[in-house]
Amino acid sequence: MSTIEEDVRRGLTAHPKDIPPKWFYDDRGSSLFDEITRLPEYYPTRCERAILEARAPEISRRTNADTLVELGSGTSDKSRVLLDGMRDTGTLRRFVPFDVSKQTLHDAAAAIEREYAGIDVQPVVGDFTLDLESIPRGGRRLVAFLGGTIGNLLPDARSVFLRDVAAMLGRDDYFLLGTDLVKDVARLEAAYDDGQGVTAEFNKNVLNVINRELDADFVVHAFEHVAVFDAEREWIEMRLRSTRAQTVRVRALQLKVEFAAGEEMRTEVSAKFTRGRVERELRAAGMELVEWWTDADGDFALSLARRRTGKGVVPGKASYRERRRTGKGVVPGKASYRGNRPTGK
Ligand code: SAH
Ligand code: AVI
Repeated sequence: MSTIEEDVRRGLTAHPKDIPPKWFYDDRGSSLFDEITRLPEYYPTRCERAILEARAPEISRRTNADTLVELGSGTSDKSRVLLDGMRDTGTLRRFVPFDVSKQTLHDAAAAIEREYAGIDVQPVVGDFTLDLESIPRGGRRLVAFLGGTIGNLLPDARSVFLRDVAAMLGRDDYFLLGTDLVKDVARLEAAYDDGQGVTAEFNKNVLNVINRELDADFVVHAFEHVAVFDAEREWIEMRLRSTRAQTVRVRALQLKVEFAAGEEMRTEVSAKFTRGRVERELRAAGMELVEWWTDADGDFALSLARRRTGKGVVPGKASYRERRRTGKGVVPGKASYRGNRPTGK
């Protein structure tokens, strides 16, 4: 797993600066995200839950899965809808939640273990861009990646990730992917800049994480939350804007970083999809779309996919092995967003 030291050193010395969203999720970040999922403006969680509730029986019957693997599982709230479906079909044996946020993962795993008597719960702490090989094998697995978290990966990282998923799928396994869909810009931006300021707090919390973990001295209130939709790339971009010229020290890295007044640092992209794009990206990774479901308003989609077999399909090779061996993750591509230039003198 790439460390916070590596990610922050690279990100704060890059032009423009960025911090990977993986570091949002300490205990406070995870609970702020949980709060976000209940905000009136943040529709994805409600929409995805509605699709799951409508389709869980069909998903369970169709996949006949005995194991639910959930990547980026967080509190595993929506997983219960799938687990219920699998229990009703009589196939449910095992649940493997996988997340980088250790405490949240273990709390969620313990709760599921209490609620679903007799199933085997095997939580795995890891980075889904690097550590998919630590997921236990065996059985008929349904690998779920919900919430639209795939949108938080930049395009290069996303295609590598999808290839890794394809490589881990056996012949009887399925992949269930949640994606937020392209829509009206005002609704998209409101979902990432809510009236109560919870998303702003979630965004700024990454500075608290760096202060605590790397003995840094970010003045959190000297940064403001920015969320804009990039229509060309079809993604929401969250940034932190320095409200004044300031110097930040990151003592654990012996790093001194200058921010100009108005300078923006990217903290997250959240890509929005169309059916065509999901289909193409799955195909390019060696998978095929077998079902596509949306909520009634077409705001969010769930895709069921499996590994493509047959002529001309070269089985994928898990590239995370090489990345782990060399210690190099998929680093964010060079960002070239508008508005990142310092506006101050
Ligand atoms: N799946 C849940 C939670 C989404 S929040 C839902 O749909 O509501 C995103 C989750 O992904 C968080 O729990 C976070 O800790 C986890 N996460 C973010 N980056 C990760 C990474 N690189 N590897 C593993 N987990 C990651
Ligand atoms: C986890 N992920 C799918 C969320 C999203 O919508 O991109 C994270 C988030 N960022 C701001 N609000 C929610």
